[in-house]
Amino acid sequence: MTGTNPGDRPTPLMTGVPALDRQHEFLERLLSEFSTELAYGFASSKVDEFLTDLLLYSSYHFATEEATMKSSRYRGFIRHKREHDQFRARVQAFAATDHHGRTNPAEIARFVKAWLERHTHQSDLVFAATLRPPHDS
Ligand SMILES: [Fe+2]
Ligand SMILES: [Fe+2]
Repeated sequence: MTGTNPGDRPTPLMTGVPALDRQHEFLERLLSEFSTELAYGFASSKVDEFLTDLLLYSSYHFATEEATMKSSRYRGFIRHKREHDQFRARVQAFAATDHHGRTNPAEIARFVKAWLERHTHQSDLVFAATLRPPHDS
């Protein structure tokens, strides 16, 4: 289990698909920077910026994955897309709460970290495995 302290890098979220791994690394970096701001007590003033960047970049990343799934006729597309949509909805809900001044930056960081690790380590890995050619035996 990794924490959210400065310099405490989360577990790499590797699918083995270079484009997706680069995008996962960027999402991880956004979270890492926010976690550092949280640790130093600056996070409250950065919530809006973090959620905006997270929503924009995750939408771009999800669109990349979903386009790849469509072109490869991935059978788990609908279920996987639902997880993406639920994440976006939760981030938007955090942003709406922030506009009323009632967000908890630590709760946001915990949610994003847990979601990225769970989704990427499970759903994304299952999908990425279908893109790799089978091993010769
Ligand atoms: Fe992903
Ligand atoms: Fe995904």
